[in-house]
Amino acid sequence: MKKRVYIKTFGCQMNENDTEKMYILLSDEYEPTLNPEEADLILINTCSVREKPQHKVYSEAGRYKHLKKKKPELIIGITGCVAQQEGENIIKKLPYVDLVLGTQGFYFIKEALKTFTKTKKPVVFTELKSDFKPPLILEEKNFISSDKKITAFVTIMQGCDNFCSYCIVPYVRGRETSRPPEDILKEVEELVKKGVREVTLLGQNVNSYGLKEKGYPDFAELLNMVSQIEGLWRIRFTTSHPKDLSDRLIKVMAENPKVCHHIHLPLQAGSNKVLKRMNRKYTKEEYFKKVKKLRDAIPDIALTTDIIVGFPGEEKEDFEETLEMLEKVRYHEIFSFKYSERPFTVAQKFNDKIPEEEKEKRLKKVHEVQARITKEIYNSYVGKEVEVLVEGFSAKSKELLMGRTTTNVIVNFKAPRLDLKGALVRVLIEEAGKHSLKGKYLETLKT
Ligand code: SAH
Ligand code: SF4
Ligand code: F3S
Repeated sequence: MKKRVYIKTFGCQMNENDTEKMYILLSDEYEPTLNPEEADLILINTCSVREKPQHKVYSEAGRYKHLKKKKPELIIGITGCVAQQEGENIIKKLPYVDLVLGTQGFYFIKEALKTFTKTKKPVVFTELKSDFKPPLILEEKNFISSDKKITAFVTIMQGCDNFCSYCIVPYVRGRETSRPPEDILKEVEELVKKGVREVTLLGQNVNSYGLKEKGYPDFAELLNMVSQIEGLWRIRFTTSHPKDLSDRLIKVMAENPKVCHHIHLPLQAGSNKVLKRMNRKYTKEEYFKKVKKLRDAIPDIALTTDIIVGFPGEEKEDFEETLEMLEKVRYHEIFSFKYSERPFTVAQKFNDKIPEEEKEKRLKKVHEVQARITKEIYNSYVGKEVEVLVEGFSAKSKELLMGRTTTNVIVNFKAPRLDLKGALVRVLIEEAGKHSLKGKYLETLKT
């Protein structure tokens, strides 16, 4: 009988994707379990982008400590960004941890397990190579979940070279490298063979895909290449750094019918002074010009963004400019965060920190303003017919189906039959909720 592995994942989609890769790498010896109590191997795949998720790692690990008392052969490992950041320190703080594998190290999980089984000593692997190319790892059969997957993530690049002054990612994910296009195509083809209809291409800054490598396509070209895969209906991508958003990409988004009409374009702040100190390399005027270009080329495009409030030195007037940008751009949704001081970063050394209560106030204000805008935008869908790719049942009810519009809005809807998972259907929107729409099925467009 196979042993069992439980993986708890924190952080971004890239981490979720890495978790899937670990399941696949381990699959000849381990099968996944959702219950840590019955696991032989527990991995915590961690995030350190803000202080809070970093702390969660320690409380999460603490939960499994007692399991080891009951089952001494249980192996516990920490992987991902906190593992990369802390390395050996994790073993000092949590002596019951057996494996510490960084953001490249997790690819060697099988070797690490072998070494650990032999030596019974903690294995720490946190080397970060600047020219690292992740191996091609394909899921041979559906063992992660027996459910057919309709949407999937494909990591197209590793690392980040942008060094925004608040951000730890370049330090924990290493230098930016792009995966070979043939690996990406192969991975997407395999997913499509298994029934996937929509892929999201992942990278910290997809717009600079292939620019460092000789003979690679650029991101716009890669999108066109991926779109030629038969049976794949939709392509999404994230994240786009505004400074590298090219006219070529806008053109492909407008002309290639498989590329979805949604772009996540992190603004971070609306004041040029703050943007400069963040090292974002664009002004709010340049950002807005790109938004205008996108909307001119793709009138129904949905934008979403990330906002940081309370960056060091952000005065009330600076913050007002962030609110102004929200009103001007009118994003479908935003992800907003209080600035959190991170090790290694340039902003850590800035003296003019904003008090916690003030950050809290600003975050609340941002939520308030955006909730109104999202409501207005979602209300404007009511009465419209939209195309929805059905992903499965609605989270709230097994009597409703759930899917997304090309603009990435969640739609829950009634349908005369419930076996429409994987179909592209037309839905009439009847009601707008806070973070989703509700409607009724009209017809099936494609199966
Ligand atoms: N590469 C992506 C984002 C990765 S991190 C990009 O450039 O958009 C995701 C988001 O976390 C960032 O966009 C930013 O808004 C937020 N973030 C990163 N570091 C942070 C910090 N120190 N404090 C608060 N939020 C942070
Ligand atoms: Fe962090 Fe900036 Fe890189 Fe995004 S682009 S991962 S915010 S350094
Ligand atoms: Fe977190 Fe690492 Fe992603 S720090 S946001 S898991 S790249």
